[in-house]
Amino acid sequence: MGVRVVCCLLFAGLLTACGGGDAPADKGKADAKPILLKFSHVVAENTPKGKMAIRFKELVEKRLAGRVKVEVYPNSQLFGDNNVLEAMLLGDVQLAAPALSKFENYSPALQLFDLPFLFRDMQAVDRFQGGPAGRALLGSLSSKGLVGLGYLHNGMKQLSANQPLRVPSDANGKKFRIMTSDVLAAQFEAVDAVPLKKPFSEVFTLLQTKAIDGQENTWSNIYSKKFYEVQEYITESNHGVLDYLVVSSAAFWNGLPDDVRDGLAGALDEAIAYGNQVALDKAVEDKKAIADSGRSTIIELTDDERAQWVEAMKPVWMQFEKIVGKDNIEAAVAANKR
Ligand code: LMR
Repeated sequence: MGVRVVCCLLFAGLLTACGGGDAPADKGKADAKPILLKFSHVVAENTPKGKMAIRFKELVEKRLAGRVKVEVYPNSQLFGDNNVLEAMLLGDVQLAAPALSKFENYSPALQLFDLPFLFRDMQAVDRFQGGPAGRALLGSLSSKGLVGLGYLHNGMKQLSANQPLRVPSDANGKKFRIMTSDVLAAQFEAVDAVPLKKPFSEVFTLLQTKAIDGQENTWSNIYSKKFYEVQEYITESNHGVLDYLVVSSAAFWNGLPDDVRDGLAGALDEAIAYGNQVALDKAVEDKKAIADSGRSTIIELTDDERAQWVEAMKPVWMQFEKIVGKDNIEAAVAANKR
């Protein structure tokens, strides 16, 4: 058996073992079944990520009709963020966009995005992600069998609780749900609060039953998941960013026919640009909808109150400098300057 044949067999075997065998088998077959692409996420459909996923499906099914079929599973219907990446490596799902905070076991440096008060606004996040440091982080999953296909925005995070949070000492002893990120844990420990890593799908019930006192999230998630109905106060802290990484498995993505992969990449770019616009709009609209509902009081911080949060939480940067990279922190800070 020639080396080429052995290599081909080994490659085919590897792809099958990785669950990515569907795509290459379709190569060159005119009558092949469409490639099935399952896109799993945890948020509601009426959110930046939910709308981006639907737009992606529409674009793909128009441009690659008969060749690719996209199924979108919102609201943690298929997988939660804590098991979707394992499922992806097993070939059970082909596309996801977990929050950057959820990659700590895959690329700890991505926790850079969780550092409190690192980015001034979403424009600064854009500048950082489009620059060399941001692009390098996008590629940081390659040794784990995953491909980072693009960043997607949600927005700046706010703090919600069942009591008013104006200054850091108001958070003392309170339990906050966080995503699976040690940086986020350190952020709440810095104000003597108790962080609890829990899946997104459990947050509403944890708040409703008062098993936890509060959480941090964007206006869009607080509105679409009705957290504002079970939290009396929301502090407009803008203390951190909630962004996503659109990701696929290397076995699936690299095994696609070239023209299909190019078509999917183009559709993703367009869907992401649309999702980012939705993110900007929803940050305004959903905040207004919450305010209009009268269910939750929105607290605006004075400059002095905000400075106290910054002072209490900023030491977290030093704590994680080695993990997230001093150069990356500097590049992020530089992105704040217009
Ligand atoms: C969260 O877990 O709070 C967010 O990551 C949910 C999401 O995907 O926006």
